[in-house]
Amino acid sequence: MQKLVIHGGHRLQGEISISGAKNAALPLLCASLLTADTLTLQNIPHLRDVTTMRALLEQTGVRILANEPGTAELSAASITNPTASYDMVKTMRAAILVLGPLLARTGQAYISLPGGCAIGMRPVDQHIKGLQAMGAEISIEQGYIRAQASRLTGTRIVMDLVTVTGTENLMMAATLASGTTILENAAREPEVTDLADCLIRMGAKIEGAGSDIIVIHGVDRLHGCSHTVMPDRIETGTFLTAAAACGGDLTLTRTHADTLDVVLGKLTEAGASIETGESWIRLRMQQRPQPVSLRTAPYPAFPTDMQAQFMAMNCIADGTAVITETIFENRFMHVQELKRLNADIQVEGNTAIVRGIPRLDGASVMATDLRASACLIIAGLVAQGETIVDRIYHLDRGYEHIERKLTQAGAQITRTN
Ligand code: EPU
Repeated sequence: MQKLVIHGGHRLQGEISISGAKNAALPLLCASLLTADTLTLQNIPHLRDVTTMRALLEQTGVRILANEPGTAELSAASITNPTASYDMVKTMRAAILVLGPLLARTGQAYISLPGGCAIGMRPVDQHIKGLQAMGAEISIEQGYIRAQASRLTGTRIVMDLVTVTGTENLMMAATLASGTTILENAAREPEVTDLADCLIRMGAKIEGAGSDIIVIHGVDRLHGCSHTVMPDRIETGTFLTAAAACGGDLTLTRTHADTLDVVLGKLTEAGASIETGESWIRLRMQQRPQPVSLRTAPYPAFPTDMQAQFMAMNCIADGTAVITETIFENRFMHVQELKRLNADIQVEGNTAIVRGIPRLDGASVMATDLRASACLIIAGLVAQGETIVDRIYHLDRGYEHIERKLTQAGAQITRTN
């Protein structure tokens, strides 16, 4: 099994280029199911989840016409097998994103029900309820969702809670429904907007993406288009937090500051000085970070996908921070690992109290999920001595060439078998 070996204590200096967003690329790949024409996607990150999604789409009948680095050309001219097997869904929960498009395009879908995962229960009841409201007949058979509908019908759907992939699934399904669908309490995440932009280019009639009410007027067919995946705001935030924790002067290119308002505000609160341009962000940090308390919530509030990285920075802050996780019920798995580096953290329910100490000490730690892996890397980069991060297969699901990018910025980090 591969591991990362980190020698901490180096400042981060220089330039890092940001990849396309994983959580935008995955639904965009699924959008290819909605048309018989070719969908061309650019700025696709090279990640394990993307490879898994491509394989899943191929199993349904999608042909991948070009597969150059950064580009995917997909043709769903004929969908022969509207199925997502347990083997696929268990390795990548985002596989649920094929449910809406398959059902809308072919009238049927047979999708393995995702189980819980390391960060929480993560049910998909809102996806199912929304499709049922649009007229789908849905049953659960031997761990699979069996969905059927001759044609989905637009309706008003008020979601019980804000769900990102739930909003994406229903928005994609509604593009080919008859009549108008109104999604209320929709997710406002930039990845939802990126998907809507692509769907609109494909001929969909969508208004309000980026707000909590999205209106979709169904059309008879969608056509192909070319679309560039938005930059990864979580990868951007991860490198910025690493630089704020380690100190240094880091510029991130091919990214956008406007999807990161709250994160940039919190980094400023920690003492970083930040400048932004049209497609770059520069962070300078001279001193030990100030503690930054935060509460995760749906966009535009502080993202749960940045909580673990900020926890690592707070471990060496000059004071105490309180971190509250409101999205996932079990997203503090990194706490036990951070404690192995001597961090002082106390968890009470969904709140962690982090008392900053002047230095962490390197140790062997184990990654439990994608963002926990990023958190442990940041902790390893600031710790004195050697930190070994095990189980980094989680990391490869969501960060493209992370050790190469960090090495370029002066970190000492290598991958070993
Ligand atoms: N939820 C339900 N019922 C549903 C759907 C969601 O109860 O039908 C609950 C979840 O259990 C959770 C909350 O609602 O407590 C929010 O979950 P959401 O559905 O928004 O999460 P997701 O769509 O499964 C996406 C990202 C996650 C990110 C979350 C929150 C993708 C592929 N995944 O997941 O990304 O944490 O939104 O922003 O877009 C990651 O990249 O590391 C990651 C986990």
